[in-house]
Amino acid sequence: MLPKGCTAPPVLRTLRATDAGWLAELHAECFDEKRRWPASFLASFLQNPAAFGGVYLSQTEPVGFILGQGAAEEAEIVTLATRPAFQRQGIAAMLVEDFCTFCHKQGKNRIFLEVAENNLPAIALYRKLGFEKQGIRPNYYQEIENAVDAWVMIKLL
Ligand SMILES: CC(C)(COP(=O)(O)OP(=O)(O)OC[C@H]1O[C@@H](n2cnc3c(N)ncnc32)[C@H](O)[C@@H]1OP(=O)(O)O)[C@@H](O)C(=O)NCCC(=O)NCCS
Repeated sequence: MLPKGCTAPPVLRTLRATDAGWLAELHAECFDEKRRWPASFLASFLQNPAAFGGVYLSQTEPVGFILGQGAAEEAEIVTLATRPAFQRQGIAAMLVEDFCTFCHKQGKNRIFLEVAENNLPAIALYRKLGFEKQGIRPNYYQEIENAVDAWVMIKLL
């Protein structure tokens, strides 16, 4: 069954630095104003050889994306979002599963991420996919009024 609002099954495509412009617009649609990433930051992130990312496209319309980076046997999910109109249709779960499969094929054996302790949808998602809380980074999200702690979550592949 197609996710609601998708006109075709979402297809994963690798993100490149040249995607930074529209990716910044998509990021702004998904995140609070104080946590937006400008196109210049996204372009330089994607130019890093250790970085990788994917976007799910329904026809040509982006519905969700994931960005990560790897070092040795470990990879990090740096950010992840589903467009509001497409949420709760399994898109983020597919992105994370594909990310883990890709990392496993690259020889990684551990995925970690940081998530704001008050981001209950994301924590529920990661827990459902087998991530476990490993620690806390106090006041990690400083750009938000009243700094928020991050949970460090880990999944062994
Ligand atoms: C968190 C986010 C990526 C989830 O995307 P999504 O495509 O809606 O997630 P999925 O449909 O794949 O959800 C999979 C599971 O995650 C959990 N989940 C997702 N959204 C949830 C919500 N709002 N409340 C509770 N659980 C939620 C559920 O267990 C869900 O399974 P279910 O629908 O069978 O109950 C999305 O809400 C988002 O883009 N938020 C803004 C950006 C953000 O916070 N990104 C995370 C940064 S770490």
